[in-house]
Amino acid sequence: MAKGKNATIYFCQNCGHESSKWMGQCPGCRQWNTFVEETVVTGASTKSTKNGTAKFNKPSALNEISLEEDDRISTHMKELDRVLGGGLVKGSLTLVGGDPGIGKSTLLLQVCRNMAQDGQEVLYVSGEESLKQIKIRANRIGEFNNQLKLMCETSLDAIEETMRHMKPDVVVIDSIQTMYQEDISSAPGSVSQVREATSLFLQLAKGLNISIFIVGHVTKEGTVAGPRVLEHMVDTVLYFEGDRHASYRILRGVKNRFGSTNEIGVFEMEATGLKEVQNPSEFMLSGKPEEASGSVVVCSMEGTRPMLIEIQALVCHTSFGLPRRQAIGTDFNRVNLLIAVLEKRLGMSLGNYDAYVNIAGGIRIMEPAIDLGIVMAIASSFKNRAIDNRLIAIGEVGLSGEVRGVSQIQVRVAEAKKLGFTTCVIPFVCMDSVKEVTGIKLIGVKSVGDAIDLI
Ligand code: TYD
Ligand code: MG
Repeated sequence: MAKGKNATIYFCQNCGHESSKWMGQCPGCRQWNTFVEETVVTGASTKSTKNGTAKFNKPSALNEISLEEDDRISTHMKELDRVLGGGLVKGSLTLVGGDPGIGKSTLLLQVCRNMAQDGQEVLYVSGEESLKQIKIRANRIGEFNNQLKLMCETSLDAIEETMRHMKPDVVVIDSIQTMYQEDISSAPGSVSQVREATSLFLQLAKGLNISIFIVGHVTKEGTVAGPRVLEHMVDTVLYFEGDRHASYRILRGVKNRFGSTNEIGVFEMEATGLKEVQNPSEFMLSGKPEEASGSVVVCSMEGTRPMLIEIQALVCHTSFGLPRRQAIGTDFNRVNLLIAVLEKRLGMSLGNYDAYVNIAGGIRIMEPAIDLGIVMAIASSFKNRAIDNRLIAIGEVGLSGEVRGVSQIQVRVAEAKKLGFTTCVIPFVCMDSVKEVTGIKLIGVKSVGDAIDLI
C-alpha cells in the first residue's frame, strides 16, 4: 500500500459521524461524549484497486439476470432459515449481534456443523477463543466432519489471504471487534478498525461469492459496539437476545435485504447446544398460573407467526404518596396511557395504587394488539378477580376507550384455538373477518368497558 499521511480524525462512536475537531455533542445523532480520537492514513491507494477487484463491469438488464434455484442454502435450522428469509443467500454478509454469553458462538458453530455436513466448505475464524476452547464447545454440540476448518486469527490480512486461497462457501468471523488491520494505528474494536474490517468482508463476500457471518458484541445501549455504519454496510442484521436467566433465546431480524425483517426464531439453550423451539406459544405459556387474578393471555404477531403470551399485572395500594408504575417487556408510556384510559373512561381510581405490568417469560412485545390484554390484566388485578383460564384477548385500545381492529385476526384466533383456548375477546369490527373460524367462542367488544364486564 502506498504510504499516505497520518491524520487525526474524531469519530462519533454511536453513529460514525466524522469531525476534524473534538465535540461534546455529536451533530449527527445528538449523543453526548461519544467522540473518540483516531488516526487514519489519508491519500493511500484504496484496497479495491490493490486487490484488482475493481475490474470493468458490464451493466445488465433485469431480464438477463437469472435467479438460480441454489442461490439460497439451507442452514438446516428452520428457525434461522426463516429469519434469514428462507435460507442463507450466497455472497451475503450477515451481522449477528448480541450480549456476551448469549450464545452467538454456539449458534454459529452449530450452523457451521450443519452446513459442513451438507457438503459446504466452511471456515470458522475465532479471534476470541483458542482452538481447544472451540473443541470443548464442539464436543457438547455433537459430531463434526472435516469440511469445517477452524482458525484462530485476528489479522485481517491473514484472514483475507486464507479466504482467497481456500475459497470456502461459508465463513464465520467471531468477532468483528477483535479483528485488526495493521495499517490502522487505532486499537481493535475502534470505529476505524471495525469499519475497515467490515468493508473488507463485504468485498470478499461479493467478490468471491462467500456467505459471511460476522459476530458483533452489543454495548450497554443495545446497539452493536462501534458505529452504526456497520449496520448500514451489511445485508442482514440479526440480534440474538434473551433473558440470561431463562433458557430460551430469540433471534430477531432487524434488517434484511433478502426478506422480511419482522421474523423471529426461538431457541432453547440446553446442555448440548441450542435447540429449536417449533411451537413458541406452548413454550411461552408453560408455567402460567391457574385462577390467578391479573393474568391474561394475548396474541402478538411476530413476523408471519402468531405467538401467545401471558400478560401479568399487579395492582396494589401505594405506601407512598406517589404511585409507582412499572412495565417490564413492553412500552412504559403505553402502559401509563392505558391506565389513564381506565381512570378516565371507566372511573377506576388507580391514583392510590401502584401498578406493575410484566410480559411473562422475559420477552419484549411492543405491538398495540396486546393493549386489550394489558387493560384486562390491570382491571382483573384491581378487582382481584381471575379471568377465565381459557380466554384470550386481542385488540388495540384508543384514547376514548374504544377497542380498535388489529391485523391478521384470523391467524391469531386460529392459533388460540390450536392451543385449546375456548373464548376469544376480539374487537367488534373484526367479527366479520373471523366468521369462518369455528369451534371457539368469539366475543366482539366495542369498548374497554365491554371487555372489563367479562371479568
Ligand atoms: P457463547 O456461544 O459462548 O456466547 P457468546 O458467543 O454470545 O458470547 O455461549 C456461552 C453460554 O452458553 C455459556 O454461558 C454456556 C452456555 N452453553 C450451554 O448452556 N450449552 C451449550 O451446549 C453450550 C455450548 C453453551
Ligand atoms: Mg463468543
